[in-house]
Formats: sequence, structure tokens, C-alpha cells
Amino acid sequence: MDRIAQQRDETFAAMDAAARLAKEFRDSLDTLPPRAPADHASLLAAFSRPLPDHPRPAAEVIEELAAAAAPGLTGNAGPNFFGWVQGGSHGAGVAADWLTSAWGQNIGPYRTSPAAAVAEMVCTNHLLDLLDLPRGASIGFASGATTASLICLIVARDAVLKRAGYNLGKDGIFAAPPVTIVLGDEAHSTIYAALRYLGFGDANLARIAVDEEGRMLADALAARLPHIAGPKIIVAQAGHINSGAFDPFTEIAKLAEAHGAWLHIDGAFGLWARATPSLRPHCEGADRADSWSVDGHKWLQTPYDSAFAIVKDKTAHEASMRIAASYLDPPPDGAHDPTARVIELSRRARGFPLWALLQTLGRSGVIEMIERHCACARQFADLLRGDPRIHVMNDVVINQVALAFGPPGEEGDALTAAVITGVQAENASYVGGAVWKGRRILRVSVSSNLTDKSHMETLASSIRRALDQAAK
Ligand SMILES: Cc1ncc(COP(=O)(O)O)c(C=O)c1O
Repeated sequence: MDRIAQQRDETFAAMDAAARLAKEFRDSLDTLPPRAPADHASLLAAFSRPLPDHPRPAAEVIEELAAAAAPGLTGNAGPNFFGWVQGGSHGAGVAADWLTSAWGQNIGPYRTSPAAAVAEMVCTNHLLDLLDLPRGASIGFASGATTASLICLIVARDAVLKRAGYNLGKDGIFAAPPVTIVLGDEAHSTIYAALRYLGFGDANLARIAVDEEGRMLADALAARLPHIAGPKIIVAQAGHINSGAFDPFTEIAKLAEAHGAWLHIDGAFGLWARATPSLRPHCEGADRADSWSVDGHKWLQTPYDSAFAIVKDKTAHEASMRIAASYLDPPPDGAHDPTARVIELSRRARGFPLWALLQTLGRSGVIEMIERHCACARQFADLLRGDPRIHVMNDVVINQVALAFGPPGEEGDALTAAVITGVQAENASYVGGAVWKGRRILRVSVSSNLTDKSHMETLASSIRRALDQAAK
């Protein structure tokens, strides 16, 4: 058999095996244990095979991969996972992602995959429409909100330095005037990481006090800004990781405008509230920012590797991101240049699964899912509120619920830790922990497509059982 025919047969056999295994997995979502049951040692043993000396049939390897991975898979594609804000990889996006891989498209410059570039262009318009952000903004299709924020902050840094008359491209970062980053005291850890990657240290940060929900205090911001000389970037947040709260964007935007600051909003999951009329008031004024980072792979349910770096000033975005080389042809007239939007050249064609997902869910599908998740979070908090040992620590405004158990202090923290361990051990639902407002909390994030009210009852029962057991 010639090489092409042999590869085709091998590929088809591997694809058939993968399709069967993927369907079996998806068929088990309702009963899938949300916590990966395998321990580290057994997973390591399952994957640790010698590197083969010779090629092997791909279908056989795919079967082995699935068997090795199965006990180490987290059930966040199922309905009982509440551990972090993780999406459920909607089937439409997954199927489109298979095609994306099968097509082997590299969206570098436009011409390496015109279809992939056009899918991104069309998705840009849909996303700006859904999120109701300035229609002329440009979007970089990034791997996650961390990189989306990094991209936006690079553009912000370049733009504020340019406005200050500094030529960063010519004179370099080390002689640049200091740029101050102004951010709420409870900004997400990935913002601090992005700032570190960019070369900003503690001395460059002005941390603004927050209220009991973690929202930046506009008065504190107003008092601080007049004392900050030189270029500045304000980083606000839509969707606090523990409370789900939103910074007061209208006031912050007014202050940013008055002080000539760039305003970035980290809206990894919370910015989706803008797509939902009933939640829209939470992020009124967010459209006045200069840039936004938001995930597809969390609340929108695209398969992983999907986030959006949105920049109002397309020219500034392209100036900071463009990768130019004599062998990289420009796009045709009217098309956007994918190499001028993200910090990668060769990359996955992220527009295909996104396009399929948006076409499948439609506007009302997105709204229904987000409203359902928020209703689930409220119902869950109400189910537990009557128990004097359980404290709902946040105002449940979207999909996040933070619980603490027992009295404040060591005793309560130990009880909360024991409840988390108990729920994880039962493995009917998955929750994680964090530390917030000086207390250990159990955090519930409702963000998987399949979750409905029945799954909240399962979780509440599991928590009650774990609490009774821990309190014995
Ligand atoms: C507010 C916020 N920003 C940023 C991120 C990071 O997103 P990603 O994991 O997609 O990089 C998260 C993740 O939970 C988040 O909640």
C-alpha cells in the first residue's frame, strides 16, 4: 500500500476510535465523577510507557490514551462541577474543534487560512454586538483571559507612553517614563501576573481600596488619581472571582477620562453580564473603557483555548501586535490581519469553534444559559441560608457563591476546610476553597452549560452531609 493510502486508513481508524470514545465520554456526563478519581502515582504509572522504537497503529494509541486519561479527567464538562469558573465545552464547539484540527489550519497571516481569518472577522462583529461594545473595536483571539489581559495591557502601555511623547519602539522600555498601574486591591491574580510579565513591579502599582464585595471604591480612586503624575493605566474588574461583583464602571470611566488614563476591564467571565438584559445594569458604563479581556472558554462554553482581547482603538492594537516579515503577505483589502492582534504567529484557528457555538446558541441561547446559572446560584444560596452554621459571604449577584462555616477564626476555617474535603470525597459535586475577607471559604461557581436547579439541590445536600459529619 502506498504511504498516502496507508496514512488515510490509519487516520480514519484513529478518528473512528476517537469519535466513539468521545461519544461514550459525553454520554456519561450526568454521572461522571466531578473530581478526577485517580491519584498522581496511578496516573503517572498509566502514562509512563517507554518511548517506542518503532511506529505503532494510531487507533491503538488513541485507545490507550483514553484508558490512561479517563481516571484523571475532571468532570467540568458535566453539570456537577462548581470548583472554578470553568465552562463545559459545548458540543457544537467541540465538533467544530475536531474539524479545526482535521483541517490543520494555521491562522498566522491571512493567507495561511483565509477561512479561519474570515471566521474571526465575523465573530468579532458578533461578539461586539453581544457584549454591546464599540462596534469599531478590534479583537485578538487569544488562548485565555490571562493572555487576553496581557495583550490589552501591552497595547495600553504602548499607547500611554506614546501619548506622553515617548517613542518606545526607538528608545526602549528601560529609559521610558514611569507608568503607574491603578487597580482594585482585589484584582485577579492573573492581572498581577500579566503586569509582572510586562515588567511592572509593586513600586509601579497604586492599589485602590475595595468594599466588602471586592469592588473598587470610586471615592478612593478619585482621591488617589490627582497624586499620580505621568502616564497611567486603570485596571477594573467585571466579575470578582469570589463574589462575582462588578466595579462601578461609570464613575471609574469618568475618572479615567478626566485624568487621561487608559481604562482596561478584566471581564474574564463577568463581562458576559452585558449580553444579558436582566444583568446588564451591573456593567453599565463598561463600554467606556479602552480595552476588555473576556473568555470564551468559561461562561460562553467554547472548548478550551478561547478568549478575546478587545481594544477600542484598532490602530493602537495593530501597532502594538503586528508581526511583519517579507514572507508574510498582507491581507486583501477590507480583511483584518490576524498577525496584528495577538502575541502569536502560528496558532489554532480559534474562530471556527466560536463561530459554530455562536450560530448554535444564538443570542437567546447565551442569555438563557447565563440567566439559568445566576438563578441556580441564588437558589443554592437560599437553600443553605436558613442553617445558622452556614454563612453566605457575598451578595449573590451573578453565578458565584462564597460560603463560610461556623464562627470566624481557626475553628470556622477548620470546619470550612472539612466541609470542602467531605464534599470532594463524596464526589457527587465538586467545590473548591479560597481565602477571602480573612476567612477560609467554600466557593461555588455555576458555569457549566448543563447545570440546572436539580444539580444545585444535589450540591446543597452534599454540603449539608459533609457539615453534619464534620461538626460531629
Ligand atoms: C476575573 C478573572 N480574570 C482572569 C482569569 C484568568 O482566565 P484564564 O484562566 O482564562 O486565563 C480568571 C479565571 O478564573 C478570572 O476569574
